[in-house]
Amino acid sequence: MRETRAAPCRPRPRPKLALLPLLVLLFHGTRPQGSPGPLQCYGVGPLGDLNCSWEPLRDLGTPSTLHLQSLKYHSNRTWTVAVPTGQSWVTIPREQLTTSDELLVWGAEAGQPLWTPVFVNLETQMKPEAPRLDPDVDFSEDDPLEATVRWSPPRWPHHKVLVCQFRYRRCQEMAWTLLEPEQKSKPQNPVEIQGLELATGYEVSGRCRMEKEEDLWGEWSPILSFQTLPSAPKDVWISGNPCGTQGGQKSLLLWKAPGHCVQLSYRVWFQVKGQELILEETPCCSSFVPTQVEWAAVSAVNATSWDPLSNLSLVCLGPGSAPHGVVVSSIAGSTELLVTWQQGSGEPQEHVVDWAQDGDPLEDLNWVRLPPGKLSALLPGNFEGGVPYRITVTAVSPGGLYSAASVWWFREELAPLAGPVLWRLQDAPPGTPAIAWGVVPRHQLRGHLTHYTLCAQSGTRPSVCMNVSGNTQNITLPNLPWGPCELWMTASTIAGQGPPGPSLRLHLPDNTLKLKILPGVICLWGLLLIGCGVRLATPGRCLHLWHKVLPRWVWEKVPDPANSNSSQPHMEEVPQAQPPRDLPILEVEDIEPLPVMEPPQASSQLDSGYEKHFLPTPEELGLLGPPRRSHFWPEPTSG
Ligand SMILES: *[C@@H]1O[C@H](CO)[C@@H](O)[C@H](O)[C@H]1NC(C)=O
Ligand SMILES: *[C@@H]1O[C@H](CO)[C@@H](O)[C@H](O)[C@H]1NC(C)=O
Ligand SMILES: *[C@@H]1O[C@H](CO)[C@@H](O)[C@H](O)[C@H]1NC(C)=O
Ligand SMILES: *[C@@H]1O[C@H](CO)[C@@H](O)[C@H](O)[C@H]1NC(C)=O
Ligand SMILES: *[C@@H]1O[C@H](CO)[C@@H](O)[C@H](O)[C@H]1NC(C)=O
Ligand SMILES: *[C@@H]1O[C@H](CO)[C@@H](O)[C@H](O)[C@H]1NC(C)=O
Ligand SMILES: *[C@@H]1O[C@H](CO)[C@@H](O)[C@H](O)[C@H]1NC(C)=O
Repeated sequence: MRETRAAPCRPRPRPKLALLPLLVLLFHGTRPQGSPGPLQCYGVGPLGDLNCSWEPLRDLGTPSTLHLQSLKYHSNRTWTVAVPTGQSWVTIPREQLTTSDELLVWGAEAGQPLWTPVFVNLETQMKPEAPRLDPDVDFSEDDPLEATVRWSPPRWPHHKVLVCQFRYRRCQEMAWTLLEPEQKSKPQNPVEIQGLELATGYEVSGRCRMEKEEDLWGEWSPILSFQTLPSAPKDVWISGNPCGTQGGQKSLLLWKAPGHCVQLSYRVWFQVKGQELILEETPCCSSFVPTQVEWAAVSAVNATSWDPLSNLSLVCLGPGSAPHGVVVSSIAGSTELLVTWQQGSGEPQEHVVDWAQDGDPLEDLNWVRLPPGKLSALLPGNFEGGVPYRITVTAVSPGGLYSAASVWWFREELAPLAGPVLWRLQDAPPGTPAIAWGVVPRHQLRGHLTHYTLCAQSGTRPSVCMNVSGNTQNITLPNLPWGPCELWMTASTIAGQGPPGPSLRLHLPDNTLKLKILPGVICLWGLLLIGCGVRLATPGRCLHLWHKVLPRWVWEKVPDPANSNSSQPHMEEVPQAQPPRDLPILEVEDIEPLPVMEPPQASSQLDSGYEKHFLPTPEELGLLGPPRRSHFWPEPTSG
């Protein structure tokens, strides 16, 4: 059951603040369970209304009225104010109050008080309005950077002192830093914020309270944003080979924007051959480097006089004193890379390790600077497996740069994604095919090449493979069997073998075999010819027969009467020897002018066997036009 203690207690005359806890305690003992949290009342400004608010009620219902009792001036007079439904605060108009009065306040629902009455001293329980901040912020003339923010307190009775508190934060940060000490409205001093960074955005705001009411702070003022002075970038580096600026290669001067959240304009100087060159107002954060630059310097437009500009000597010093022994290693379970090196001769100011992914544009360079004597660096970044990164260590000295040779590194090597493309070279020696292949692009290789594997397949025989050193780019193939042959190649990294590249088809004539059996074949052909002449007397049918009897390469080589421009028109219909359709190579074969087919009656003259130089030439016969040209068989692209 809810306690239904009716009227609030009889207030003591002029209760002191010290009595309040006792009063509250008294009420607390009789307070129903789950009664709403404390009520808080304060005056808005020195002459404003009284605002009373409470935590929203859940199970007990909301107060419909707020009861106020004047303790000081109006001899216990009690009055009520209606609470708009659903609202957890109510404003008591200024006209109902007497300045410096003391009140008891409680909420009630249907005449029943809902919670402990609270004591309100109108003299002190006031929330001052927020202080005003002057947007013109001043900065110190030298290091360390300090900002001075002027402010004015809210309107307040002159004889009363306000205490104001200020806080600031850097842009993009959530947490505020409170400034110590708190400021008084009298005497009033500007707010000083120390230890600021150049070229950075900050926010500041303030609030005030009455001197005696330590917990009744007014609202925070609207945020004042300001920026500190521009500053030269502190981290300037060159992308592209610094030694390339002499050789006409493009290089880019890069810098990391100083500070935070501030857009600056920069001024870049280059000295080329003793002539100073100033580039006006370059946006962030790169500038192309002219060739033959001796040094480059970058500053910010409107930077403070005490902020030194960055000056980098770009003279490329010989490799003799460059760092050496660069070793990159992957760290298990991390996406970072560890780079170590040995110092070259000379005493560098610092070392710079830069890295970029294969094929990245010049501006996508990352770098870290290392103090002298530190000969290792943990490269932060999300290095991906199978992606080639170029890592370069450079020693920076006042006189110039010493760069070690770049190292290509893969955090994790993977098997290649593609195989090399093969093409045929001129036979060396004639009759022995030679092939060459293209380098697999680094991003497709996905690791360091260990070796190539070349495979060949002839006809229906199983394929044969052999390993080829990764240093070679061509090879001769003396032992390929004759006939059609297919070649392909794969590349391997330590992670494994990649897929085959496009295959190359060859057709290899068998020269040795031809030499051995040619006489016999010619004899056979001679016999056939005789046979044809004598028995069949129809050359067309003979031709058909020898196509059947002889191996293809033989009848390809055998002069075809169709090629002779004889006066026998029916012979022109006879098909010429066609190359196998899939022959991919450019083959150049002379099809020689052919002898005229002798009429069958004359065939008896040829019984010693056929040799073309024994036959009369077409010129001798006076039957031919100009001699036939070479035939070029187009080369289908291998694939
Ligand atoms: C107001 O109430 C208090 C306590 O109930 C009592 O002591 C005091 O005499 C009252 N004052 C007047 C003027 O009635
Ligand atoms: C009174 O205070 C409450 C709670 O702090 C607030 O939500 C409300 O806006 C204030 N009313 C006025 C008129 O200031
Ligand atoms: C530099 O300062 C001048 C004068 O205060 C101002 O007009 C100009 O806009 C500033 N330039 C930059 C880039 O801030
Ligand atoms: C940059 O450094 C070089 C050599 O130390 C010097 O001659 C030059 O004046 C410097 N440039 C600037 C703009 O400070
Ligand atoms: C090629 O070399 C790899 C690695 O050494 C080996 O596993 C493979 O058997 C070799 N292949 C041939 C055809 O020799
Ligand atoms: C074959 O490779 C060697 C080196 O491996 C090279 O010197 C030579 O020029 C290459 N030959 C051809 C025809 O490309
Ligand atoms: C044969 O000769 C005639 C005329 O001499 C010519 O028109 C024809 O093109 C030639 N035929 C061949 C296959 O060369």
